[in-house]
Amino acid sequence: DGFSAERLFKQGYSYTYDDVIFLPHYIDFPTDAVKLATKLSRNVELSIPCVSSPMDTVTESSMATAMAAVGGIGIVHYNNTISQQTSFVRNVKSHKIPFSAELIFVAPSDSITSADEFATSPCIFVTETGTQKSKLLGVVSKSDWEAVRDKEARVSSYMTKSPVTLPSSYSFDDVAGYLAAKELNFVPLVSDDDDEIVNLVARSDIERIRGFPKMGLPSLGADGRFLVGAAVGTRESDKERLEHLVKAGINAVILDSSQGNSIYQLEMIKYVKQAYPNLDVIGGNVVTMSQAQNLIQAGVDGLRVGMGSGSICTTQEVCAVGRGQATAVYKVSSVAEKSGIPIIADGGISNSGHIVKALVLGASTVMMGSFLAGSSEAPGNYVNQGDVRVKKYRGMGSLEAMIKGSDQRYLGDTAKLKIAQGVVGAVADKGSIMKFIPYTMHAVKQGFQDLGASSIHSAHDLLRSGTLRLEVRTGAAQAEGGVHGLVSYEKKSF
Ligand code: XMP
Repeated sequence: DGFSAERLFKQGYSYTYDDVIFLPHYIDFPTDAVKLATKLSRNVELSIPCVSSPMDTVTESSMATAMAAVGGIGIVHYNNTISQQTSFVRNVKSHKIPFSAELIFVAPSDSITSADEFATSPCIFVTETGTQKSKLLGVVSKSDWEAVRDKEARVSSYMTKSPVTLPSSYSFDDVAGYLAAKELNFVPLVSDDDDEIVNLVARSDIERIRGFPKMGLPSLGADGRFLVGAAVGTRESDKERLEHLVKAGINAVILDSSQGNSIYQLEMIKYVKQAYPNLDVIGGNVVTMSQAQNLIQAGVDGLRVGMGSGSICTTQEVCAVGRGQATAVYKVSSVAEKSGIPIIADGGISNSGHIVKALVLGASTVMMGSFLAGSSEAPGNYVNQGDVRVKKYRGMGSLEAMIKGSDQRYLGDTAKLKIAQGVVGAVADKGSIMKFIPYTMHAVKQGFQDLGASSIHSAHDLLRSGTLRLEVRTGAAQAEGGVHGLVSYEKKSF
């Protein structure tokens, strides 16, 4: 019944996730017995198969911290200066608490004239120069400020001097216990080495995080710090960037290119392996077996798969090059698996079923952009569009992002004409990834259970042996597989 993957993917069609469907197999274990522990690359282990994209509307420190806290990993983007990117990495490394609050700083001579200044934070820090990097002098809470009559007064006249701080090495439970024992509403956390404020924990955050669904193990390195990756390009200047990122403690580097099978990338892989033998290097993107073979021979520890399948991508339309993502993942994994190289299925994930398909077809992790954009951990502010709160989400090959500097990935060299290979859009507010990722992983486990696969590894074995069967869905079958035949439900009419 159905086809083996080998036969189905031999037919000369480029299939994407929605084109294919697995036939159910045999269940002999409960959902909780499914283990999703996996590898990002040869030496980086994760407890869930989720990776956030190196995009400037997806992964900076908040996203990378939260991704590691739920057992995945974030890859910090490089559409910024070296010092910005390394400070995002350092920030993740200095956190033990699974979120980063917005930190607001003013100088002693400043005044706070509007309550709006407290819109994103319960307090404002007063430092010598009004920046994060200078000495902490005091703090102003919203209630302190509300009691002040003269809103034009300098903050130094009413701030609480020398506030209590805790070391950022404190765990979530240590900080929660401290806030409860001292009956404080918030406490700033300072870095161990230079006393700089790196986070702020409010009592409401403690309650919020305790209300999140139970998570698996966080992703921690041997030093007990959160795992984090970073993307770089393949120019000479990226070698300097990488040196700083390695010093900041990255656990893996992704060489970011939409077509990774190039002399530039092959040389960069060799350089990284020789300069940093203990750092995992992930190459890509690739979609064919021969592209993958080349990068494996050059020494990659992981491969990123996908070309033009991302929600904001226009590469296939602009350049006529790419591959359906289901076919790409299956074909590349058939080469990578033989060399023990984990693959990342990058782009095109918009529901938990797509994650199941990517993993079963051969991926070890999925990389997501739009699925994570619009969350509270994504960079940028929410804006109201009609009744919906949204955050911006843009392709790194969109004109807007390239003007900011990301042209390397899409142009390869210093071409002066900029041709967009991506678009700019917005994604609705989804809340915290720490809430929806655990639910999504539970749905993925149910999919694995239906297929009789108790781990990612066993799913790969069942697929390759031809035990798992699949079929192509017609357009009508796809429509039938989605919600259909309903009118919208309005409570008042019943
Ligand atoms: P999703 O579907 O998760 O895709 O939103 C995220 C992935 O899309 C890739 N990416 C792009 N591809 N033009 C492209 O052709 C772009 O502007 C662009 N920006 C991101 C990237 O691989 C990302 O992880």
